[in-house]
Amino acid sequence: MKYDKKSVEDIDVHGKKVLVRCDFNVPQDETGKITNDKRIVASIPTIRYLLDHHAKVILCSHLGRPKGKFDLKYSLKPVAESLSKILGFTVKLAPDAIGEGAKNLAESLREGEAILLENVRFYPEEEANDPEFAKKLASLADIYVNDAFGTSHRAHASTAGVAAFLPAVCGYLIQKEITVMGSALENPKRPLVAILGGAKVSDKIGVINNLLEKCDTIIIGGGMGYTFLKALGKEIGKSLLEADKLDYARDMVKKASEKGVKFLLPKDSLAADSFAADSPFIATEDENIPADKMGLDIGPKTIEAYRNAIKGAGTVIWNGPMGVFEFDAFSMGTSAIAEAIVNEKGVISIIGGGDSVSAVKKLGYSDRMTHISTGGGASLEFLEGIELPGIACLLDK
Ligand code: 3PG
Repeated sequence: MKYDKKSVEDIDVHGKKVLVRCDFNVPQDETGKITNDKRIVASIPTIRYLLDHHAKVILCSHLGRPKGKFDLKYSLKPVAESLSKILGFTVKLAPDAIGEGAKNLAESLREGEAILLENVRFYPEEEANDPEFAKKLASLADIYVNDAFGTSHRAHASTAGVAAFLPAVCGYLIQKEITVMGSALENPKRPLVAILGGAKVSDKIGVINNLLEKCDTIIIGGGMGYTFLKALGKEIGKSLLEADKLDYARDMVKKASEKGVKFLLPKDSLAADSFAADSPFIATEDENIPADKMGLDIGPKTIEAYRNAIKGAGTVIWNGPMGVFEFDAFSMGTSAIAEAIVNEKGVISIIGGGDSVSAVKKLGYSDRMTHISTGGGASLEFLEGIELPGIACLLDK
């Protein structure tokens, strides 16, 4: 999907009230403390630009899935506090998203000030993309900026509906995501290597379909690799299997060979007795896994083969870990692949969201990748080539 959208720099924001949709859906512990503020930090360049250009900034976001009603657990209060700290002034939290409190606070804004509306998902109309709700939200502002890449696959009132009522442009975060991932898919520095892992083939069908049209090499790891191996007649023991995806897996292997795309599957595995961090395990001789064991990571021969496949890559897109990286004993495959990528000179490395982001972070490689997407589901849909409603609704350049 190719997007060429207007950004905050293509519109005059001076003295204007600007509604900015961010993705402040941050992880929290049981006390509500934010455990990772990456998404807040990632939204700062757009906010700063607007403040520096004398806009009156009205931030909004969802947090969690409160199912259309007020629930203190999902209040954006911790986000307002975090924003205040980062920006160096108090970002007031409006009591709701569209009521009198929000209106009054928005009206009282002066140039260079920012407020945060309370969780838009406290209203069922948000996820229903209700036009009346979108209109009320839009009535708070003169301009709409979407910078919530992580939520851009949702056609909700604050992510897409509101664009029907205001001039709508993207912020820097969305601009960077679509530029980096868009060029990797549409006009990549070749060879383009995709590394796909994670538990299930069914989660990655769309991505594999789309990437088969674009990549030179596809590397498969993680739990989903075993469905492919089974489809090719290998023994996979107690490993993860999606029996209803065997035909699909066989078709993909065939399609890849017809298209001349290298499609690499594990050559060996670390096979454990049970799904546990301290389970005894062996490295298998080849693709086959003994009947009483399950594959929890790629083995040394596979690591070697995948390292070679990454050598010389122009662009690498990675989505999904190679093994159960949460267990130290089975994190070696994911770690070795991350290492191979960061050691590759001049490679454009893109980590496309979700578990691969956590893996790369946990294993200490995140600072050395070209781009780590802030999207989970949104990145996956982007890689699938699906149109993202939160981006499609913005003004074209
Ligand atoms: C995410 O965390 O992936 C986004 O914030 C979207 O959240 P959602 O899946 O609840 O719509």
